[in-house]
Amino acid sequence: MLNIVLCLLVQLPFLRVEAALVAPDALILNISATATHPIPSTLYGYMWEDISHSGDGGLYAELLQNRAFQGVIPGTQNALNAWQPFNGARLSVTSKTAGISASLPNSLEVQIPKVVSGPIGFENTGFWGIKVQSGWTYNGSFYAKAASFSGTMTVSLKSTGGTILATKEISGISKKWKKFTFEFQPSASAENEQNVFSVVVDGKAAAGQTIFFGMFSLFPPTFRGRENGMRIDLAEALAATQPGVWRFPGGNNLEGLSFDTRWKWNETIGRLEDRPGRVADWGYPNTDGLGLLEYLNWAEDLGAEPILGVWDGISTANYSELDTWTIVPEADLQPYIDDVLNELEFIVGDAKTTEGGKRRASLGRTEPYALKYIEIGNEDMFQPDSYAGYRWNAFVTAIGAKYPNFEFLATTLPSTALTPAYQRIDFHMYSTPTWFTANAFMFDAYPRNGTQWFVGEYAVTSTNETNTLGDLPSGRLANPTLQGAVAEAAFMTGMERNSDVVFASAYAPSLQHIRSYQWTPDIITYDAMNMVKSTSYYVQQMFSLNKGTHVLSTTPVASNDTAPLFWVASYNNDTDVVSLKVSNAGTQDLVANIFLDGFSATKFASAVSLSSPVLSPISGQFSASNTLEEPEQIIPVSTAFALPFSDRFNYTFRAMSVTVISVQAATALDV
Ligand code: AHR
Repeated sequence: MLNIVLCLLVQLPFLRVEAALVAPDALILNISATATHPIPSTLYGYMWEDISHSGDGGLYAELLQNRAFQGVIPGTQNALNAWQPFNGARLSVTSKTAGISASLPNSLEVQIPKVVSGPIGFENTGFWGIKVQSGWTYNGSFYAKAASFSGTMTVSLKSTGGTILATKEISGISKKWKKFTFEFQPSASAENEQNVFSVVVDGKAAAGQTIFFGMFSLFPPTFRGRENGMRIDLAEALAATQPGVWRFPGGNNLEGLSFDTRWKWNETIGRLEDRPGRVADWGYPNTDGLGLLEYLNWAEDLGAEPILGVWDGISTANYSELDTWTIVPEADLQPYIDDVLNELEFIVGDAKTTEGGKRRASLGRTEPYALKYIEIGNEDMFQPDSYAGYRWNAFVTAIGAKYPNFEFLATTLPSTALTPAYQRIDFHMYSTPTWFTANAFMFDAYPRNGTQWFVGEYAVTSTNETNTLGDLPSGRLANPTLQGAVAEAAFMTGMERNSDVVFASAYAPSLQHIRSYQWTPDIITYDAMNMVKSTSYYVQQMFSLNKGTHVLSTTPVASNDTAPLFWVASYNNDTDVVSLKVSNAGTQDLVANIFLDGFSATKFASAVSLSSPVLSPISGQFSASNTLEEPEQIIPVSTAFALPFSDRFNYTFRAMSVTVISVQAATALDV
């Protein structure tokens, strides 16, 4: 009784405050100490494929574009993409002389005219520029041969204005292919990315000669110093969101435009000289320098669970015309199933007793990778008949017989009946802010029958309900906007609250080179020098870093009635932190009186919030984006504040904002 009286007395001042806040906008929200379910560590992550130069020219740190003339037609102008002559040399890509390896038959043929003087040669313009940074060591290499030229070659990094930023002399060229390696250590940083890699010889000494070059490479320092590794700023940005899953290698880029140009795992491993590369799905050749092992190592570096997409007998041909897609008939499927079995043995096979494991070990990795999730194909809802008819069954049955512990993800619509029945299904959605807020509760009503959902691709892509993947004039977003990110956050509160059935999600696509892209919006945009984190990036980071281990129940539960406020509360049983993630998708600031029900907090709370930089925004400002020109228009703001009471406080959620409030529970909750 005494307790009740004390409690009422303590609450009185707060009730007065609450009364002042109630009408018209205050929400009274109770966060209980009761957990509804654990949150899987896989809940937030990314879908990955090489699109918009996210791999070559993006995360893959190689600086030279078209480094080995892969996926091009010799003798065409196009084959010289990113290469240009310097001082009158004649360049062509040829396969008439033997290439440096069976996998790389194309070479650069450089003809030096008979009457020339001064340095003459060629340049590579990189991926629309090259970042030159003092203090960095660049590791370069190339192959060369010439019938009768044996003079010195000079390799340099230089600005397009002609300033030499780093240079090395190379000698020893002969009739046979030889690999030359060198290092650059620029003493000054270039002003901008407008720099080239150049190779020149002395015109007089080389007059009339032909020199062949093959497979170039130039690497800056990489993420964690990995050889053949990742671009540091992009890798660090992705790692800083601590993704729980990494779905790869596609997406459409898994499927190929034809069976033969599908992503072939075995052509992405081993020496770079033995990787042929491919004509890929998104309009530019892939080097496959970023191959299966690089992806698996990267997922390990991230601490993310890999979700491996395996090719399941479908290629997309002309993407927008479904009847041009090619499907392997049932009778011809076995070799492709065997290929997937070989891929899996390569990944998880014992290094001593299996051929695949031995091969992996020969490439430096003895320990099998921890792989659990296998996704059968990609978006097979576009070809459901053959998927339901035989493809799903054939792959799942064969893989399951050899690897009973793998878990399979289906890619058809949930309503498509599959044999065996799917346990996990991948759901994709690219849509408008309105769709994402309106569907924030879609998983609330999903049957708890053992089926697990993977939201394997999602993003707000447009403001046009009737054309969500159209062009910019018809509403497509060039970059994630504040409004889009807030809507994604609203949807994500629904995923987290329902993470007993939503086991994972993957924002898509991940990266975009601003000078050559096929898809907008993307989570990180960059050029050769700089990058920008989008509003959607920050939402992913805020949610992932504050994911917690258990969902806590709240009263009321977020619902359509409580929109435009969307929320989820969670508890982290490692740190005893209780987090409340709130998306305010409305255009008004909204107040909540927040009560900690059944537990108390230490005196300080922290909040991180993403909102308009303008305190009184007009509605147009909600469509603001971060761009390379204005990278920090909208960035999360962190605050720490004292709680007026150990079990309640008020908070104003700014119009069009995403906020994560964290309080430290005074004692551990019994979840
Ligand atoms: O994320 C871009 C593309 O969208 C993916 O490749 C495909 O799966 C989806 O249609």
